[in-house]
Amino acid sequence: MSAVRDVEPPHDSRSPHASRPLAPSPSLGPLGPILLEILRDGRLGDLEPEALAQRFGTPLYVYDLDVIEHQVGALRAALPTAMELAYAVKANPALAVVATMARLGLGADVASGGELETARRAGVPLSRVVVTGPGKRDEELAIAVSAGVRAITVESPAELDRLEWIASHLRLRAPVLLRAAVATDASPERIRIVGDDGAGKFGMSAGDLVDAATRAIRSSHLEMLGVHAFGASNVLDPAAIADHVGSTVQAAAGLARRIGFPLRLVDVGGGLGIPYEPHEEAIDLAALGTRLRALAAGWADDPATRSTRVLLEPGRFLVGSAGAYLARVVDRKTVDGTTVVIIDGGIHHLVRPALVGQEHRIRALGRGGARTGTSPVTIAGPLCSGLDVFSRDCDLVPPAVGDLIAVLDVGAYGYTESMPLFLSHPMPAEVGLRDGRAELLRPRVEPVEWLDRQRNPAW
Ligand SMILES: Cc1ncc(COP(=O)(O)O)c(C=O)c1O
Repeated sequence: MSAVRDVEPPHDSRSPHASRPLAPSPSLGPLGPILLEILRDGRLGDLEPEALAQRFGTPLYVYDLDVIEHQVGALRAALPTAMELAYAVKANPALAVVATMARLGLGADVASGGELETARRAGVPLSRVVVTGPGKRDEELAIAVSAGVRAITVESPAELDRLEWIASHLRLRAPVLLRAAVATDASPERIRIVGDDGAGKFGMSAGDLVDAATRAIRSSHLEMLGVHAFGASNVLDPAAIADHVGSTVQAAAGLARRIGFPLRLVDVGGGLGIPYEPHEEAIDLAALGTRLRALAAGWADDPATRSTRVLLEPGRFLVGSAGAYLARVVDRKTVDGTTVVIIDGGIHHLVRPALVGQEHRIRALGRGGARTGTSPVTIAGPLCSGLDVFSRDCDLVPPAVGDLIAVLDVGAYGYTESMPLFLSHPMPAEVGLRDGRAELLRPRVEPVEWLDRQRNPAW
């Protein structure tokens, strides 16, 4: 997973796991069930799907906050004391989801001024917020510096210049992490799952990192904290995750020794996966914990890293399996031997299947069971686009018109990554479940509401 270039004496620090296929790992361990999910015994977080559909309308996003709490607890139990968690708000920025993370004591990783405001309103202390992402605007940098965030991850030498200039005008000191570019040979999963290979957008090369660190320690308006590096996305192999953590801390310590600054913070990004495909298994958290604790023992022995905090900023692992997209069947037909089921939601609300070619698990609610016949079942949405297909060979008894289906594992990069204006269908409500109760988080929006806000100028 890791491909952080060491900045000490040049040697190849790439992980041997960089391009290795993911190893299967057990889904049960001493920490208990490793991945809890929202759909249990045909119910969503202990509630009847039909009751939720009637109360909030379909299509509908539902998030089980108890599942999120379980995921946080399970991951935390695997981490050594030198490591901390900051939730990557981009995975699911629903205010109540971020507030759940705040209640559980997590920091936040934000990628825009909007996400910074989300974290603030959700109750995340700003001193626990890190700001990361390419293309930060001047006003976003100024707000982050004034807010007193924990760290601003600087993605380029030019961004370091702007940050220093802004901090000097505010007469403040900006806390800085320098983002290391990771080698592209570590990114095939990222291409497949997230939909980007980076294209050089993220972080800086080893040479720029050294120059930027040298400048940062000389500036009275910058406070050099350490290094940030995001490895790969949706990684299920504990060895690959631990390798990335280990090599990032090692590279950061090398930089700190070479330039001469105390290494206070290393941000190793997110990237912990969840199984989307039937053959994939949840991360073996016990194995991950063993590897991370061994790394932490090494950090404690090294004067360069003894006081370093290591920040993990997961998104998908904490919220992915907590979400379901609930939709109702509006049409069914047979075309050339294929059963085609049309539902009232589609890729305008959940673009991931089309964007990254990732099929999500689909369950028929109320009917259940795997398909017995051989005829393929297609599950498609209402958009006038051939891309609007959730599955071309779904393993389901074909649901009937009026039935509900649930698309699973949509708690991360679901609604937030989508394109809800396309074709002017209603935007689904988002609902949170906790302790057997359902609460509206974000209301459904009817097309008339955004029509009302538009102007048609009388030129
Ligand atoms: C900087 C950064 N941190 C954290 C994350 C969260 O990653 P994940 O949801 O894979 O854990 C991302 C996702 O793209 C990211 O870009």
